Amino acid sequence: MYRDKTCGELRIDDKGKTVTLAGWVQKNRKMGGMNFLDLRDRYGITQVVFNSSENPDLFHLANSLGREFVVEITGKVAERENKNPNLPTGDIEIIADSLKVLNKSEIPPFTIEDNTDGGDDLRMKFRYLDLRRPMVKKNLELRHKMAFEIRRYLDANGFLEIETPILVKSTPEGARDFVVPSRMNPGEFYALPQSPQLFKQLLMVSGFDRYFQVAKCFRDEDLRADRQPEFTQIDCEMSFVRQEDVIDMFEGLVKHIFKYVKGIDFDAPFPRMTWKEAMEKYGSDKPDIRFGMEFKDITPLAKGKGFSVIDDAEITVGITVPGCASYSRKQIDELTEFVKRPQIGAKGLIWVKLENDGSIKSSVGKFYSDDQLKEWAHKMEAKPGDLMLIMTGEAMKTRKQLSELRLEMGSRLGLRDKNVFAPLWVIDFPLFEWDEETQRYYAMHHPFTSPNPDDISKLHTDTGNVRATAYDIVVNGNELGGGSIRIHDPELQNTMFELLGFTPEKAKEQFGFLMEAFKYGAPPHGGLALGFDRFVSILAGLDSIRDTIAFPKNNSGRDVMNESPSPLDPAQLDELQLQLKEKNS
Ligand code: AMO
Repeated sequence: MYRDKTCGELRIDDKGKTVTLAGWVQKNRKMGGMNFLDLRDRYGITQVVFNSSENPDLFHLANSLGREFVVEITGKVAERENKNPNLPTGDIEIIADSLKVLNKSEIPPFTIEDNTDGGDDLRMKFRYLDLRRPMVKKNLELRHKMAFEIRRYLDANGFLEIETPILVKSTPEGARDFVVPSRMNPGEFYALPQSPQLFKQLLMVSGFDRYFQVAKCFRDEDLRADRQPEFTQIDCEMSFVRQEDVIDMFEGLVKHIFKYVKGIDFDAPFPRMTWKEAMEKYGSDKPDIRFGMEFKDITPLAKGKGFSVIDDAEITVGITVPGCASYSRKQIDELTEFVKRPQIGAKGLIWVKLENDGSIKSSVGKFYSDDQLKEWAHKMEAKPGDLMLIMTGEAMKTRKQLSELRLEMGSRLGLRDKNVFAPLWVIDFPLFEWDEETQRYYAMHHPFTSPNPDDISKLHTDTGNVRATAYDIVVNGNELGGGSIRIHDPELQNTMFELLGFTPEKAKEQFGFLMEAFKYGAPPHGGLALGFDRFVSILAGLDSIRDTIAFPKNNSGRDVMNESPSPLDPAQLDELQLQLKEKNS
């Protein structure tokens, strides 16, 4: 046995016991005739003491140990003279009477501590060392606990965990596919699944009326803080359900996780908001409702007064930022620069201050009288001391730009506390999304999403305004998950394909197997998938999902540790009957 205790468990009550510990040398300090060694494992750190007068050989061996050496130590638990209140084991130390070096280590490229000197790239290159740092390790522990609790909840509710294939058929709807060439079928390719969507629907046809899977998904899309090319979904599907049943079941799951992992009870039902309301009030389909600053539409008040920027615009909307009338010119210029960034793309920002004495200062005083601006303030529920930030332009674009500014102001004012959780359901998404570039409709969720039964008559006449039976669960401005009730009627599915611009041949080629299956008694069904990495990052209070994943990719989709992706050996290419195009340099 290499150890009988871990480095995190010994307390003052263990005083006098002889124990064996094994782990890594975190720190090794020689002070006079004593050596103090911090021994670390997954569970914590324990101080070990070597005394030159009692055991000179052991003392010399201890002095020769470098950082991250792997050692086995036996000794007696003793009360520490200088207790360390910051360590759970800080009341005790081990007086060593044997030391075995199990393995040496080169000097690590960065310090293995939360407050490390290692930059991002270096830590990613040596990710296995980065994972020894408590704060990264903690996230993986949380991830495990959450996966465990998710399985406990779903199992208790009769869900079966069923695996679906990773080598699947390419379906170009949604993001780009990662593809895999088939050696046995030259010139043909598998795709990696963007989600198990079609398979879970087939499982419903097979009668597995409650399915789930902790599913790896792959999407070749531009990466952001909340997106990885391979990520994990808690993918679920149920038969004989309506939207209400699915929402109930998975609200229950999210509440279960908050309760058993975070100790937070949500007694009341999560709020619900239609997509339309979310866009109008927050300019986002994933509103952060930890704070107010809801949009106020002042189009009728502002239009037609001779200010062409507003007169030519579709809408004029603003937010009221409490207590910020004191913002300096420089601070407001900074906000203007913020909204003009290419990622946001606004042309400018209008501001109006309602000063503490009730007077008005603004950037549009040339075009509007103080009385007119006071009407704006009234509509925007501004109080003396508040700052109104207003944007104008094409409706959807302007709302999205103002949404970014609202989030920025929320952050600046400290209103986005990571320990506060504000979940909600966004419902009634549009079924279709119009794409200007290709001049066609796309499915906003996916082509199997059922229209709201009340809107079926509008499918051909008012396509853009048909609502879907689709729902997202949103927490603190993150889309945690989404799903829908599916179409189970082949005729309605064909109409959907037609509206999405699929010819019957193309639809058959892409989704023929699903349509075929639906001929054999498909039950009414629906489901949802939660982004597991996002769920962990929200609970851990992280800004990026990367640190919830043991071996993530960087922003260019690379694993800098194993240097992938990498070129293929010519022999491998030959075997796959693939030839590379000349690179355009
Ligand atoms: P959707 O595409 O909305 O739905 O994905 C569900 C959830 O998965 C997470 N997610 C991601 N997480 C990390 N990196 C990514 N690149 C990424 N893309 C998505 C999000 C998202 O809410 N089959 C449907 C679900 C269904 O209808 O049942 C689906 O995949 O948290």
